Amino acid sequence: MGKKASHAPLMEALLRYRAQDNASYHVPGHKNGQVYENEDMASLLKEVMSIDVTEITGLDDLHHPEDVIREGQELSAMCFGAEESFWLIGGSTVGNLAMILTVCTEPGDLLLVQRNVHKSVLNGLMLSGAAAVFLEPEIDTTSGLAVAPSASTIQTALEAYPSAKGVLITLPNYYGMGHDLTATAKACHAAHVPLLVDEAHGAHYGLHPRLPASALSCGADVVVQSTHKMLSAMTMGAMLHVQGGRINRELLRQRLAMVQSSSPSYPLMASLDLARRHIAVHGANAFTEGLVAADAFRKGLKQLPRFRLVEPIQLAHQENGAQEGISERLERDEREAYGYSTHDPFKMVLYDTFGVLDGFGLKRELEAYGCIPEMSDEKHVVLLFTLGSTLKDAKHLLQALVHINNDIRFKETAGGPGSMRKEQCGLDLDFSTWNNDGTMVYSSPVQFGLQPVKPDQMEVVAVEDSAGRVAAEMIIPYPPGIPLLYAGETITESIAKRMRRLRELGAKWQGAADERLLTIRVFRLK
Ligand SMILES: Cc1ncc(COP(=O)(O)O)c(C=O)c1O
Repeated sequence: MGKKASHAPLMEALLRYRAQDNASYHVPGHKNGQVYENEDMASLLKEVMSIDVTEITGLDDLHHPEDVIREGQELSAMCFGAEESFWLIGGSTVGNLAMILTVCTEPGDLLLVQRNVHKSVLNGLMLSGAAAVFLEPEIDTTSGLAVAPSASTIQTALEAYPSAKGVLITLPNYYGMGHDLTATAKACHAAHVPLLVDEAHGAHYGLHPRLPASALSCGADVVVQSTHKMLSAMTMGAMLHVQGGRINRELLRQRLAMVQSSSPSYPLMASLDLARRHIAVHGANAFTEGLVAADAFRKGLKQLPRFRLVEPIQLAHQENGAQEGISERLERDEREAYGYSTHDPFKMVLYDTFGVLDGFGLKRELEAYGCIPEMSDEKHVVLLFTLGSTLKDAKHLLQALVHINNDIRFKETAGGPGSMRKEQCGLDLDFSTWNNDGTMVYSSPVQFGLQPVKPDQMEVVAVEDSAGRVAAEMIIPYPPGIPLLYAGETITESIAKRMRRLRELGAKWQGAADERLLTIRVFRLK
């Protein structure tokens, strides 16, 4: 490690600034927290406010970095294997917007994109006026969860749409599931288009031998990472990384300046500086304790066979090898491996094999024992370990599961391990293949734009009656923030069913005018 890498240039400049104890005649108005001098309630925030400054002498400017921020970004590029890195104060959300606005510059420009994307990607399409060709994602047939499209799907779509400006992939998905992106990057580059990756959930990828390869190391041209999710930055702290010559970096800078505040938070930027420094100083060892905790949890879970984890089929076979013949296994592996062959070892995607507790129910029970999961769906609960997790966290979670397992209310009612049927778990295998008719791996181009739907164009119908109609609003279960519908999308029977099911289970919704989702806005029939 070079000496510089152990520095955190912005954080150090902020500490120097604080030590100088200068009088502030600049924003922010709280004046280093002075305004709250006698308010105990603000004591925690006052510490943060002492470095919550603005673009004053010596503290550089995110939008025109020349000094400590520039150095911090350069060190980030070195650490994450990029040619150039940009700090984002607005999460991967602003990274996705800027990435799309850089690649799609003319209304109607085509972007090949998987349909199961975070809402920020659909918002980026709307802002840029792009047209999307949606790609069929690979589905893990065991869990029913959608991953990213395969390289062959992307290649087929690129052949059909040679005018596409780029391909945008989300990997890993919220559940930590993914595959190696090298073949995808090669397919994109053979067609002379950039590969854009929303790697919001994979900021730690490539930083430890047990972690999957990073998108940059597989050849992606531009990558967005939520440093606040799986590394140690503060909420909203994220990074955008670039390599190669396929991305117009001057335009990218302009786009970033458009979608980010002109007064980005210094504490947040300092937290990016420190998150990167932590990795630079500790290397792969930064993950050791967290991995020990995650492994202890996995090991302990074996004593509770009722609860299982989603894992790639090859891994499951390594552990349950005796139950299946080798050739049978290899044949299945070959079929399944592509879509889902890597799993983030820090992400536990847990489910109740008895089918007594659905994902939302299991999440509620865990919360009652003081274990707060990241999210749930109809079947699964997603629990994160990170480089900050400890053995104590693993034990706490295992104890909670032991209690739930012993709870008389949740005893097995029928079947046994593995008895959960598809109908019970509610995952409909084609839930993420929206927009295509089942014969093609890509959709026709869908034009996006910013024109709001006019009141006289829409009506309100019960969700029960919505199948076959065209949605006039975005419907987003949150988390994970992947819109089930965007305005203009046809509501299939399976999406209508999924909305009803998620509603019954208590999912939270963004975007919907009716927050209980009893009704939905649809376009009037002509
Ligand atoms: C796949 C994906 N991309 C982008 C985002 C947006 O990230 P952020 O919350 O950092 O803005 C999320 C948020 O959950 C996400 O799941």
